[in-house]
Amino acid sequence: MVAVTNRLSVAGVTLSAMRAQTTTGDQGAAQGPVDWDAQAADFDDEPDHGLRDPQVRAAWAERLRGWLPAAPADVLDLGCGTGSLSLLAAEQGHRVTGVDLSANMLERARAKPAGYDAEFLAGDAAQPPVGGRRFDVVLVRHVLWALPDPAGALRHWRSLLRPAGRLVLVEGVWGTLTPVGIPTDRLLTLLAPLVDHTQVEQLSGDARLWGKEVDDERYAVVATV
Ligand SMILES: C[S@@+](CC[C@H](N)C(=O)[O-])C[C@H]1O[C@@H](n2cnc3c(N)ncnc32)[C@H](O)[C@@H]1O
Repeated sequence: MVAVTNRLSVAGVTLSAMRAQTTTGDQGAAQGPVDWDAQAADFDDEPDHGLRDPQVRAAWAERLRGWLPAAPADVLDLGCGTGSLSLLAAEQGHRVTGVDLSANMLERARAKPAGYDAEFLAGDAAQPPVGGRRFDVVLVRHVLWALPDPAGALRHWRSLLRPAGRLVLVEGVWGTLTPVGIPTDRLLTLLAPLVDHTQVEQLSGDARLWGKEVDDERYAVVATV
């Protein structure tokens, strides 16, 4: 394993991160320290984070509606950040539990308009503090790449699903010189022993989602069990 310190932009977030490049092909921030608390203050300024632009919000709402089952479903949003996607799912009639390690991210999620069926918990996305609860959907956007053991996390998330549940994973590979992220093929390989069916949607070509044209790899996988 080779440790690399670099400064990079991931989905619009500039990070100073100590990466660990593993021999398995994962390109994640395996050992941190990504200071997510420090990112929280202006996290929502990025169009796809804050979903403040009506067109960007509508584009994510449309995708989400296609990825989620009929409402109301129990949705667990892991690494929920400022809760934008959680609240979008709640707006669509789902019961949402968001989990994040960052107190500052959670503070912003909880400060967003009340009235939705959403709760936000502090905890590790890899081992969320949900006790024996089970969910129809585990939703994870731009988080798996940052976990030290993506394979272990996926195994655990699979165990949190009800029968016929699904994982909705939105990931990508950012940067060119020292890319970080999880390539589609790698994620599909990790999912293969865990799920019955996977559906991949390429997201790079849809500028409405990002508020700009992008040319790196961005995708969603809906994996049903
Ligand atoms: C790039 S942000 C994505 C936030 C949100 N999912 C979204 O798409 O807007 C990554 C988030 O994952 C959280 N995170 C990173 N590692 C985590 C872990 N091990 N457990 C819980 N949250 C984690 C960070 O605090 C941050 O809020």
